[in-house]
Amino acid sequence: MSDAVIPAQLAHAWSAEPAITVPLALAAVLYARGTKALWKRAGTAHGVRVREVAAFAAGWLVLALALLSPLHEMSETLFSAHMVQHELLMAVAAPLIVLGRPLVPFLWSIPAAWRRGVARAFSSGWPAGAWRVASRPSVAWLAYAVAIWGWHAPRLYDAALASAPLHALQHATFLGTALLFWWALLHSARRRYGASVLYLFTTAVHSTALGALLALSSRPLYPAYASTAAWGLSPLEDQQLAGLIMWVPACLAYLVAALALMLAWLREADRRVPRPVVVPVSLAAAFLVLALAGCDREADEISRRELVDGNAARGREIIPAYGCNACHSIPGVRGTDARVGPPLKGIGSRSFIAGVLPNQPDNMIRWIRDPQAVDSLTAMPNLGVSARDARDIAGYLYTLR
Ligand code: HEC
Repeated sequence: MSDAVIPAQLAHAWSAEPAITVPLALAAVLYARGTKALWKRAGTAHGVRVREVAAFAAGWLVLALALLSPLHEMSETLFSAHMVQHELLMAVAAPLIVLGRPLVPFLWSIPAAWRRGVARAFSSGWPAGAWRVASRPSVAWLAYAVAIWGWHAPRLYDAALASAPLHALQHATFLGTALLFWWALLHSARRRYGASVLYLFTTAVHSTALGALLALSSRPLYPAYASTAAWGLSPLEDQQLAGLIMWVPACLAYLVAALALMLAWLREADRRVPRPVVVPVSLAAAFLVLALAGCDREADEISRRELVDGNAARGREIIPAYGCNACHSIPGVRGTDARVGPPLKGIGSRSFIAGVLPNQPDNMIRWIRDPQAVDSLTAMPNLGVSARDARDIAGYLYTLR
């Protein structure tokens, strides 16, 4: 632990710890390189959207601020500062980074020849299985809760403050489980609106409970934070402040996210229900428009459903005309058990198309029409599929869950 920082030294307390600056810089470079490569291939703003790039950039900035600014030094002396730092990591930076879909640009930032190998490794075999389990919302929820509660056990917390490696491990588990948690709720194929709202709500409840426990405790729980006097706070006041920070602003982040998902859910209902019934829903929508930034995943789900409702049956009929079943085994389409391309069973609930494009309707249609433009090294040829046919085929593929 470095010497305690006092208010007068604060302005000089920026950190340049290589263990943090190097991975941060690497992440920014890979994301930028990958986005450039992807946009060059698939068209600007395709594959990863402008707002996703903006979300990643914002999340990256918050992360850098939390880990390198004087806040980091302050958090060695003040529990409340440490709490701000942790909440910035978990409740602000993590969801923004997740909204930026970093895996896609990261994948595209490596040489094309490796990309396919990496994508393969992670879309089949044990890594895919492990990821499927870990990214289940229930598992991610539990991991996140265990990280939050476990590290706040006074013994563990004090141990982390006394040892740099343990402190790094603490931050890594906070950030890692938070990324997993937000990913599972916002992007996972297993995500369901109702369940996600419930997971967010219960997370708000249990962190409220922990915050209240800290704020209302009658004695300081963390002996390491004994020298807070320079900041005009007693250790107990510092702890109360930390508890309040976890209690109110941090929980707000979960509730805003839950509201945004709920709103998206209502919007989906809005599309199905005749207009007049929907007026209150639209009012709620207007009220919460801000909270919605970044929930376009739901829009994808809607248009997926539209695709499926419209033309799936026709799509299934025309697949053999293009010979898709010569290379793929496709449930419901007769053909040999072809193994040139991956089996398309379950393609509707996979996260990526061919391991490189997020599985969204516009990407799926682009892939079917012109896979070579997306990835010049792919073994799937351009088959001259018309726009309408591609739409219908995509519609059928999305019924394969
Ligand atoms: C000549 C063989 C061949 C034909 C014909 C073919 N594909 Fe493919 N397809 C592949 C290969 C190989 C891949 C794996 C691409 C990769 O990973 O780069 C693939 C990948 C895909 C994927 C992504 C699968 C995944 O697991 O992410 C989809 C979807 C797909 N093809 C749909 C179609 C459709 C629809 C047709 C017909 C219009 C078709 N393919 C025709 C060989 C073919």
